[in-house]
Amino acid sequence: MSICFNEATDVFQLDAGQSSYVMKLVGGYLMHLYYGKRLDGRDHSYMLRLAPRGSFSPNPDPQNPIWSLDAAPLEYPSYGTSDLRSPAYHVQFADGSTASELKFVSHRIVDGKPRLEGLPQVYCESGGEAQSLEIVLRDEYRPLEVILTYTAFDAMNAIVRSSKIVNKGNDPIRIKKASSASVDYVSGRYEEIHLQGSWARERHIERAPLTHGIKMIESRRGHSSHDLNPFFALVSPETTEDFGDAYGYSLIYSGNFKGSMGLDQYGSTRAMIGISDFDFEWLLAPGEAFQTPEAVLVYSNEGLGGMSRTYHRLYRTRLCRGVWRDKRRPVLVNNWEATYFDFNEDKLVELAKQAKELGIEMLVMDDGWFGQRNDDRCSLGDWFVNRGKLPGGLEGLAARVKEQGLKFGIWFEPEMISRNSRLFEQHPDWCVHVKNRRQSEGRSQLVLDMSRKDVCDYILETLTGILKSAPIDYVKWDFNRSLTEMGSALLPPERQREFAHRFVLGTYSVMEALTSRFPEVLFEGCSGGGGRFDPGILYYMPQIWTSDDTDAVERLKIQYGTSLAYPFSTMGAHVAAVPNHQCGRVTAISTRGHAAMTGAFGYELDLGKLSEEEKTQVRQQVAQYHQWERLISQGDLYRLQDPFKGNTAAWMFVSSDKKEALVFYYQVLSVPNPEMPELKLKGLDEKAVYTASDGGTYSGAQLMGFGLHVPYMPYDFSSYVWHLKA
Ligand code: DGJ
Repeated sequence: MSICFNEATDVFQLDAGQSSYVMKLVGGYLMHLYYGKRLDGRDHSYMLRLAPRGSFSPNPDPQNPIWSLDAAPLEYPSYGTSDLRSPAYHVQFADGSTASELKFVSHRIVDGKPRLEGLPQVYCESGGEAQSLEIVLRDEYRPLEVILTYTAFDAMNAIVRSSKIVNKGNDPIRIKKASSASVDYVSGRYEEIHLQGSWARERHIERAPLTHGIKMIESRRGHSSHDLNPFFALVSPETTEDFGDAYGYSLIYSGNFKGSMGLDQYGSTRAMIGISDFDFEWLLAPGEAFQTPEAVLVYSNEGLGGMSRTYHRLYRTRLCRGVWRDKRRPVLVNNWEATYFDFNEDKLVELAKQAKELGIEMLVMDDGWFGQRNDDRCSLGDWFVNRGKLPGGLEGLAARVKEQGLKFGIWFEPEMISRNSRLFEQHPDWCVHVKNRRQSEGRSQLVLDMSRKDVCDYILETLTGILKSAPIDYVKWDFNRSLTEMGSALLPPERQREFAHRFVLGTYSVMEALTSRFPEVLFEGCSGGGGRFDPGILYYMPQIWTSDDTDAVERLKIQYGTSLAYPFSTMGAHVAAVPNHQCGRVTAISTRGHAAMTGAFGYELDLGKLSEEEKTQVRQQVAQYHQWERLISQGDLYRLQDPFKGNTAAWMFVSSDKKEALVFYYQVLSVPNPEMPELKLKGLDEKAVYTASDGGTYSGAQLMGFGLHVPYMPYDFSSYVWHLKA
C-alpha cells in the first residue's frame, strides 16, 4: 500500500519508492509533518511541534493560545486568518472579503491516478503502479471547497500533486492565486537550484542559499520561457551530484508559472509551485471548479543525480505518450541552418539524396514553405503551399523525398499570425490584443488568440488538412515570440485576466486533438529553441528542440542543465555547420557528433559542403547512434563532470541491468602539458568485468574507484567516448 490513513492518529502517510510524505489533521487543519527518506509505519505525530509565538502571530483559537497558524506547517496555506506568510491560494468572495481558511472534510484513497480534464499529466498504465489520495477541505464560513490530490508512485520517488478549487455557493468567487503544491519544511537550511537562461543560452544551472524573505522564479511571458524553467530544487548545503537530500519541484505546464521559496521568521522554509498569480484571476461561477496543473515532487537522498534519474524515468515512461514514446526516433536532417528561407523542391530533394547516402533517415522542411514566406516578416497563418518554391506541392515533394527512401517532416508555427498575411486581412481580431492599444511585434509577428474556440478550431482543421494532404511523418511545432498586450476580444472585462491560462488551455486542446488524429506522426516541440521546454509539451510531443544554439560547446551546458529535470531522449540535438551560426566557434565534426548524439539526434547543415573525410565520419556517427540509441534513450544517466565548474564535461548512460554503459567526455580548451586526471564512473556493477572500446578490461569496482584514463587531447573542443560491455 503506498497511501494509508491512520484513524487513531489522524495521520496520512504516502510512500513513494524510497520517499515518504506525511500529513496530520490537527483541530481540523491539515498539517504537513514530513517529506523525505522513506519512513516505517510508526506513528509520526511527535514530529509536529507547536509553540506559543506571541501576539504578532495570532492564534486561531482564543482558548488555545499555545499555537498559531503563522508558525504551523500547513499543507495548503490560506490567507488572512492568522497564517500571514505566502498563501497557496487566494480568493475573493462576493462580499469583497479575501480571508479564508480550510478545514478537513473527508478523504478517499483510490488505486491508480484520476484523470485531469484538458491538462497534460503524468499517467499510470496499471492501477497497481500508484495510489492516489483526494482530500476535501472546506472553508467553514464561505462556500469554498478545495480538493487536494496526491498520487504516490510505488516504485518511483515521485509524488504528483494538484488542487481543485470549487465554488459551492450561489455567488461567484474570484480566484487570485491557485498553487498546485506547497510544502512547509519546519527545520533544515536549504539551497535552491533553478534553470535560467535566454534565447540560445537556455537552462544554465544556478544555485544559492535560501535566506529570509521570498525568492521567486516566474514566467509572465505567456509561455514557460527561455529565461526561467518551471523547475526548481531545494537541496541541503552539503548535497552534491551523488549524495544528500534533493527535493525537485516541476510543473506540468507551458504558460505563466511561479515557483517561490524562502525562510520565514521562525526558520521554516515554504516552497510552492503553480500558475503565476501575476495578472491572473479566474471568475468561478456557482457550481464551477478550477483545476490547477500538476506539480511533480521528487525526493532523492542520492543527490541531484538520483533526483534527475527519477524525473527521467517518470517523464520518459509516464508523461510522454504514443507510439514514439518507446520507438527509436529517425535520424533527421533539417534544412533550417542549411538553407534558411532560400530553398525549393529541387534543393530539398538534393539534400534528401545526400542524406540518404550518409544513412540519415528523414528530411525535415523547416520554415518558409507556405504563403509568400521568403523571410520572417510575413505569411504566418497562411498555411498553403508556396507553389513557386514547391511546384508539386507537399505531396509532390513528399513523394520525391520518399523515393530517396527517407521519411518526410514539416515545420509549423500554429499559434502565430503575421500582420502581413491573408489570415490577418480576414481576421484582424484573431490576434492577442488589447483594444485601442499598440500591438507589439516580435519577429514581425503577432500571436493568435488561442483562448477563442473559433481560432483553435480553425488551426486544428487547417493543420489536419495539411497533414492529410501528404504523407507527413514528423511535425516541428514552433512558437517564436512571447505574448504582450494580453487580452482577448471575446472575453468580458471581468474575465480578461483569465486570458493567459485560457491561451494555454486552448493550445493544449489543439495539441491533444491533432496528436490523437495523427498518432503515427512524430511531433517535436520548439519555441525559438527551448522557450517552451517543459513537461506540459512533453505530454503531447516526446521531444523538444533544445536550443537554437547548435554549437557543440554551448550545448554542453545547455544539455547538462536541461538534464536536471528532463531526459536526454527528449532533447532535440543536431550537428550543425562550422563556423557555428550562433557563436562562430569552429569545432570538429566528431565533437559535434558526440554532443548531438546524446539527444534526439540529427543534422542541420548543407551536407553537400562536407568533405569526403567528414562524410565518412557522419556515416559512422549515424551507425553508432543506431547501435547506442537504446542505451542513450532508456539507460540511467549519471553526470560525471560539470561544465559549469570547469573545462570539461562528462556524462554516462548505464543499462538497467548494468551490463552496458556509454561514457561521453568533452574537453573545452586544450591545456599544454596537462594534469592527467582519471574519469571516475558511476552506476556500474562493482563485481562485473567490463570490456571497454579503448581495448582495456576493467572491473566495475576499478572504474568507479579509480576510473578510466582520459586520453591526452591536444586540441580545443575535443571529445572521447567509451563503450563498456560486461
Ligand atoms: C526557430 C527554431 O528554433 C528554428 O529551429 C527554426 O525552426 C526557426 N524558428 C524557423 O523560423
